[in-house]
Amino acid sequence: EKAGYASFMLKEIAEQPKAVADTLLGRVDGSGTLSLDEVRIPAGVLREVDKVVVVACGTAYHAGLIAKYAIEHWTRIPCEVELASEFRYRDPILDQQTLVVAISQSGETMDTLMALRHAREQGARVLAICNTNGSTIPRESDAVLYTHAGPEVAVASTKAFLTQLVACYLVALYLGQVRGTKYGDEIGDVVRDLSGISGAVERVLGTMDPVRELARSLAHKNTVLFLGRHVGHPVALEGALKLKELAYMHAEGFAAGELKHGPIALIEEDLPVVVVVPSPRGRSILHDKIVSNIQEIRARGARTIVIAEEGDEAVVPYADHLVRVPATPTLLQPLVATVPLQVFACELATARGNEVDQPRNLAKSVTVE
Ligand code: F6R
Repeated sequence: EKAGYASFMLKEIAEQPKAVADTLLGRVDGSGTLSLDEVRIPAGVLREVDKVVVVACGTAYHAGLIAKYAIEHWTRIPCEVELASEFRYRDPILDQQTLVVAISQSGETMDTLMALRHAREQGARVLAICNTNGSTIPRESDAVLYTHAGPEVAVASTKAFLTQLVACYLVALYLGQVRGTKYGDEIGDVVRDLSGISGAVERVLGTMDPVRELARSLAHKNTVLFLGRHVGHPVALEGALKLKELAYMHAEGFAAGELKHGPIALIEEDLPVVVVVPSPRGRSILHDKIVSNIQEIRARGARTIVIAEEGDEAVVPYADHLVRVPATPTLLQPLVATVPLQVFACELATARGNEVDQPRNLAKSVTVE
């Protein structure tokens, strides 16, 4: 069943190019056309939406945090992202003009299910993003966009996460298209960029040997920190979550801009810090700011592990370890930047003698609140 891989997790990491391509199949094409007829919420209703609320848990929540950037950029509709387990307890403001997006690989996560039930009781429409056909969350939603990752067996989510991101981008682009926002022209370009993403993920997977070697060399460490800005921040959170659950290490993700507001006090000699660097093209101010952040932590002794786009030379002097990812538009970078973090966590956990498919205390599907 593991098709020659040592673990399901390794197999599922390797399946990501296909999972991404399958999730795009029939929904986008190389000419830049987006077809999402399966989202059975009438266009008229979607045009009236004045707020999007994403609810999810764990890794799916990180996909939601990234979705916010895409939804707000391409649709100009305000978007909130909330942990499903917190959502209904704060009496959220919801009505018929609210679109709730519930993201769940299993479709059975009780916290997410209770959040969407609460949302529907208040009259909101619910769109599920789900990997499991016919599971409870899509059955109880107004519409569903399935991710086509195939069955995910390893407890730690990898390929499902990448396909959740793809689905979130599709929802954002679709909303933008239906509503005819000023980003209309950009939508065709992004659809074309998405068509190339599977190949980009494949290329990342082909360059992971140094990441594995680095992970093994850090197996004795107690803490690893992860920093990012913009969509790189949720990527940092996801990298830290993978490391916690698989390697049982203290790992934390921060928004790099928050460093000086506290976390920089944690930096000490030889502390590994993974930094996810946005593209130097596009939002270049963001890029320059994170380069200064890398300089600041390195000056305080951190061992910097820098994930940066191919051709980004500005980071080279400050990177103790440099991991290259293919150039993508800023918003899509999580699709390539997350992959080295998955490989890193899997290899580090294995080096520590942990069972990566079945981490202690965790279950694949959390069906209690
Ligand atoms: C982390 C992980 C969990 C799940 C979370 C939600 O690797 O797998 O954090 O992402 O329990 O599960 P689903 O997506 O099934 O609702």
